[in-house]
Amino acid sequence: MREGYEGTGPGAITPDGCAVEVYARLPVGDEPDIIAAAVQAGARVLELGSGVGRMTHALLERGFDVTAVDESAEMLERVRGARTICDSIEKLDLGETFDVVLLASFLVHTGDVEVRRGMLRTCVRHLAKGGCVLIQREGEDYHRDVPRERVDPAGFTVRILSVEPVGDGVDSVHAEYVFPDAVWTQTFRARPLTKQQFEEALGEAGLRVDRYLTEDRVWVRAVPADDDRTRK
Ligand SMILES: C[S@@+](CC[C@H](N)C(=O)[O-])C[C@H]1O[C@@H](n2cnc3c(N)ncnc32)[C@H](O)[C@@H]1O
Repeated sequence: MREGYEGTGPGAITPDGCAVEVYARLPVGDEPDIIAAAVQAGARVLELGSGVGRMTHALLERGFDVTAVDESAEMLERVRGARTICDSIEKLDLGETFDVVLLASFLVHTGDVEVRRGMLRTCVRHLAKGGCVLIQREGEDYHRDVPRERVDPAGFTVRILSVEPVGDGVDSVHAEYVFPDAVWTQTFRARPLTKQQFEEALGEAGLRVDRYLTEDRVWVRAVPADDDRTRK
């Protein structure tokens, strides 16, 4: 387990405190539609931090060719129909490129700046000419509107119980997933990034925002900063 990260509850827990069983149970939302609308049909997608394949499977169903990367072998064991690679995102170097690199699940908000830099460099390293990086950021009130809960129609509740500063602009976030038969918790480190800080982080990696895909600016399409093609 990474320092500052912890998970409790039945089954395997990843180094960042995620419970494999929780991700196997969480339904997929509108993410695959947002992704599909932002890229060309049938694109080759490198999905970083795929977990059990919650989004992978929906993308495969939409005709994308997905390579799923995660540092947790227990998560990847649940992925069906996609090539899987067990590695840390920040160190990944496959020696090949993709039309789309996907960095979802707020991974860009990791507390460790060096890990974030490594992740964004990985995105750039694996980008084919003319390709794009799709990033999912935290919503604006993610660190402020606490405690909060969302009762899912599928029969479980997700709670963000606390968000406590731990120094250097990083917060410790404590979350709880309550299902009828079991409860899981996750504690993790997250760094809030304003729009400007986020765009600076992209710039450092040689990327720029092409466009925000959703009104809340959570989903972003980024391209290499030196990519002078007409914006899509
Ligand atoms: C919050 S889960 C989300 C999984 C999936 N994207 C989804 O939406 O269902 C984050 C996943 O990223 C993986 N992960 C986190 N940091 C990672 C890193 N530095 N390298 C590789 N995998 C990482 C974890 O093992 C976990 O499976």
